[in-house]
Amino acid sequence: MSNPSLLILPGDGIGPEVMAEVRKVITWFGDARGLKFDVEEDLVGGAAYDAHGTPLHDDTMAKAQAADAVLLGAVGGPKYDALDFSVKPERGLLRLRKEMDLFANLRPAQCFDALADFSSLKRDVVTGLDIMIVRELTSGVYFGEPRGIFPDNEGGRVGINTQRYTTEEIRRVARAAFELARKRNNKLCSMEKANVMESGILWREEVQWVHDNEYSDVELSHMYADNGAMQLVRWPKQFDVIVTDNLFGDVLSDCAAMLTGSLGMLPSASLGAPMANGRPKAMYEPVHGSAPDITGQGKANPIACILSFAMALRYSFDEGEAATLLETAVQKVLAGGARTADLLGPQGGTAISTTEMGDAIVAALAASQ
Ligand code: IPM
Ligand code: MG
Repeated sequence: MSNPSLLILPGDGIGPEVMAEVRKVITWFGDARGLKFDVEEDLVGGAAYDAHGTPLHDDTMAKAQAADAVLLGAVGGPKYDALDFSVKPERGLLRLRKEMDLFANLRPAQCFDALADFSSLKRDVVTGLDIMIVRELTSGVYFGEPRGIFPDNEGGRVGINTQRYTTEEIRRVARAAFELARKRNNKLCSMEKANVMESGILWREEVQWVHDNEYSDVELSHMYADNGAMQLVRWPKQFDVIVTDNLFGDVLSDCAAMLTGSLGMLPSASLGAPMANGRPKAMYEPVHGSAPDITGQGKANPIACILSFAMALRYSFDEGEAATLLETAVQKVLAGGARTADLLGPQGGTAISTTEMGDAIVAALAASQ
């Protein structure tokens, strides 16, 4: 049997720097544990635009469709700000999500003990925090038609985006969230704005339908998304799994991410329907962006990207034990005091570089053998 395939798309900004550290981890699992992958690398975002005049070449799209899993670094940067909307780096990412039909975006927000003081919230509000946001990723206002900027009747212009959800789009992401809740603490909170949006009313009704017909064992609650944002910073530990739409999920997951102290820590998985080999279509990426302000300085924190690979081990390759091994290695390195620049609190201290953090994590893996 051939090895499972991984397509690596480092992208822009700090993407290539953090991905280089992930490759060390991938190599370690191959050498030390016989967990080998066929790895291929390609361009996405601004890097693809520079090479091909498009943020995602059709050949790359085809490779992503064929791969067992895709690992993506980050896209975008000020260099591309003036580009036409249709070729902006972000379009490459959105095309991958849409064409691979990665409808369930899993964004865990976990507070590592060693970092509880880095949160802008009080320690007792965040210690032990472990929540999972499931964001719908292929529909809603990100993709709804009509959209565009048009002339209006008064000689001005009108900008239009459309929030649109179908029964099936809501039900399938709800099912993904209920499944996760069953494996965790069996609690799901669904967030929308059913008080002002028809799509929110449908969202609430369909999530309730899936609960009543298929997952009545899971404790379900509903919350307006604005209240959800408030509750997330008031007492985040009330949540286990949260399911929400594409736009609210974008905003709420950044909010949840910061509870943990640094965006540099948070991985994500975007999952679609099972392929012929039983594995879900999948792409894994850190939640942080391309961070142009620190690009090329060795300051980036590779942990979010490394933990994204851990999610790939768990959700694509059924290697939960290997994933736990990697997550534990990260915890040990942090507990030992190693900090990249983003993890230095107000007291300061000495930061280690991106490569030093990657090396420390590989060393911790080796020590755990
Ligand atoms: C995210 C990002 C993207 C989004 C951007 C880069 C298009 O903010 O993954 O959360 O809005 O979905
Ligand atoms: Mg975002």
